[in-house]
Amino acid sequence: MKLITAATCPIYSGRLILVNREHPCREIPPAHSLAAVNGNDGVLLERRAAALFHMLMNDIDGWTQILPVSGWRSQGEQQHIWDRSMEENGADFTQKYVALPGHSEHQTGFAIDLGLLREKLDFIRPHFPDSGICQTFREKAARYGFIQRYPAGKEKITGIAYEPWHFRYVGMPHAEIMAKMGLTLEEYHLYLKKFPYGKRPLIYRKKKQRIQISYLPAKSGCAAAIADELHLPYTLSGNNIDGYILTVWPDGRSV
Ligand code: DAL
Ligand code: ZN
Repeated sequence: MKLITAATCPIYSGRLILVNREHPCREIPPAHSLAAVNGNDGVLLERRAAALFHMLMNDIDGWTQILPVSGWRSQGEQQHIWDRSMEENGADFTQKYVALPGHSEHQTGFAIDLGLLREKLDFIRPHFPDSGICQTFREKAARYGFIQRYPAGKEKITGIAYEPWHFRYVGMPHAEIMAKMGLTLEEYHLYLKKFPYGKRPLIYRKKKQRIQISYLPAKSGCAAAIADELHLPYTLSGNNIDGYILTVWPDGRSV
């Protein structure tokens, strides 16, 4: 018998976790789960996010023009960035552009800031314009599971100012759905509540695949045990709010 404990399916881990002012990052990614994005171990991402980032950068031939500026951050680093910004830029700027320590997506290992390579790069607000190679990156990002996390016009929802340089890995097909529907991660989790497990799932068609997405409330029990019973390929992520997102690939896995 396969033994599944609550620890194998916590709601606060996985690539779809929502981290913002209301929902802190509750798990420190273990060192072995992180990988350097460019051979320079100063910028780390969760392993799968790093692999997909590599594929995307290779696809667009972006390495000579785009610089990974900041990836995974420890609580201490986020605190340092916050404190320094408060001193140098003041509270108004800091609250707009720096997440409260303990509440930064960078602490999850799923977020990366990118800048167009040039002599001077601002660490908090790197230049990442909507033209040239940066725009090509942006247009292809969803295909590789990345979203633009803080879009213009959604500041009240995300609690953060427009950040064209900050990308978040949520995986496939979620990034494509969010990009097509123009949803932030906050809005996407609300939307997925319409598709509770056991009822009609959200179906996303990609080539010949019909990928099924459902929301499982935490009270349904161990999500991994429920998913295992399907005997189909799946990915499972907590939402860091109140449950899980189950993604089933009846025709086999993709990225
Ligand atoms: N700049 C983003 C919001 C962060 O500090 O996590
Ligand atoms: Zn960022």
